[in-house]
Amino acid sequence: MKDSNYLKERNAKSIWHPMAHPADSLNNPPTIITEAGGTRISDLDGHQVVDAVGGLWNVNLGYSCEPVKAAIANQLDRLPYYSIFRGTSNDCVIELGDMLQDFFAPDGLTRAFYTSGGSDSVETALRLARQYHKIRGQEARTKYLSLKKGYHGTHFGGASVNGNANFRTAYEPLMPGCFHIPAPYIYRNPFNETDPERLAQLCLQALEDEIAFQGANTIAALIMEPILGAGGVIPPHESFMPGVLKICDQHGILLIADEVITAFGRTGSWTGSRHWGVKPDFMCTAKAITNGYFPFGAVMIADHVVEVFESDTEGKAAIGHGYTYSGHPVGAAAAIACVTETLRLNVKDNAAARGQQLFEGLQKLYDDFDVIGDVRGGHGLMCALELVSERATKKPIDKATPVKLQKAAYESGAMIRVSGPNVILSPPLVLTAEDVDTILAALRSGFQSL
Ligand SMILES: Cc1ncc(COP(=O)(O)O)c(C=O)c1O
Repeated sequence: MKDSNYLKERNAKSIWHPMAHPADSLNNPPTIITEAGGTRISDLDGHQVVDAVGGLWNVNLGYSCEPVKAAIANQLDRLPYYSIFRGTSNDCVIELGDMLQDFFAPDGLTRAFYTSGGSDSVETALRLARQYHKIRGQEARTKYLSLKKGYHGTHFGGASVNGNANFRTAYEPLMPGCFHIPAPYIYRNPFNETDPERLAQLCLQALEDEIAFQGANTIAALIMEPILGAGGVIPPHESFMPGVLKICDQHGILLIADEVITAFGRTGSWTGSRHWGVKPDFMCTAKAITNGYFPFGAVMIADHVVEVFESDTEGKAAIGHGYTYSGHPVGAAAAIACVTETLRLNVKDNAAARGQQLFEGLQKLYDDFDVIGDVRGGHGLMCALELVSERATKKPIDKATPVKLQKAAYESGAMIRVSGPNVILSPPLVLTAEDVDTILAALRSGFQSL
């Protein structure tokens, strides 16, 4: 490894960072992570902290997951790459396909289409949804619906259904035919409604209104996260996602569950859809499918959609979509080991227990620090704090304070993520009770330093 002065000096002079201003990266050198083990990461200067970000919602099993590491190393030796475009396959994708079929059977999903990440999975589901309607002779069904505050990655399709201006404005014009309805965001919503169940109903009414306005027979699919993540961890009332499914079903609109962060246990259930008792038509997965150790994803497809594609005799179901790295054997080998380990450790139960401990600890911080406007969580290991400059009026926080908090919390033992006014916590699902205490103590000293 190059020496530390060189690395700090060269970083922003040779690379641009995702989700960062290039000039800011030049002026404020980032923390350079060099090692990790268990739930902890270490930086170039020798700090070791609990990773309350879990990589980027993906390192669910922590940084020392030996079976996944071994699977990657062995597969690199045996078959480092081959494509699965028409005419060829590999043993790993077949074995993984069977495992995923079992894993997602309770969600009614029976086929996998492999991708190389979350944005790819979203793009795949959006495309296959349009194709499904074309196979059935409903060519006019091309539009998409989604939630404001939703995050669906950064490809043009995903960006077009994203519900946050930060990921849209600089890249407009985006894809036509994408329409957004209000999210069931209790803290701030256009209805000024604070009752979760009533708010869910109002959002569902807005959905019905938009469908009536657009014309149901012009809409291909609705895409949503079961619990909105990157938009600031927004858990809806339990009636919301079942309500969305019911309305979609009534109008022949497919439901795409974007579970890039919620699949594989994060909510305390194996999938976010299962958490709410919903069977979607497509499910986008990625991230934790390989514990973040290899870029990989899978779109899972509901059996009735499978039936439409597989029974086509006119050639309309030929899939003109895929990636060089779809079904990468190293990624598939990593996923086989990862899913096996995820089930063996039953991480969903630990996510539920540690998530509750973390959520309760955050509520205590709310009692002590006025800068916290809202605490969100209560469904596994995904929590957020929304910071405000005045609690009574919910006046948004300035830009500097969350950054200052992040730095102070890091110096006190925990890596946290700030995104706009939100502190987002998405630690590994193998987190211990002591790790939760460390995160809460680091946050407390961070707030005390403001
Ligand atoms: C719900 C959701 N969908 C899609 C994506 C995009 O995934 P990727 O960054 O792997 O392309 C993310 C990433 O955080 C996500 O949270």
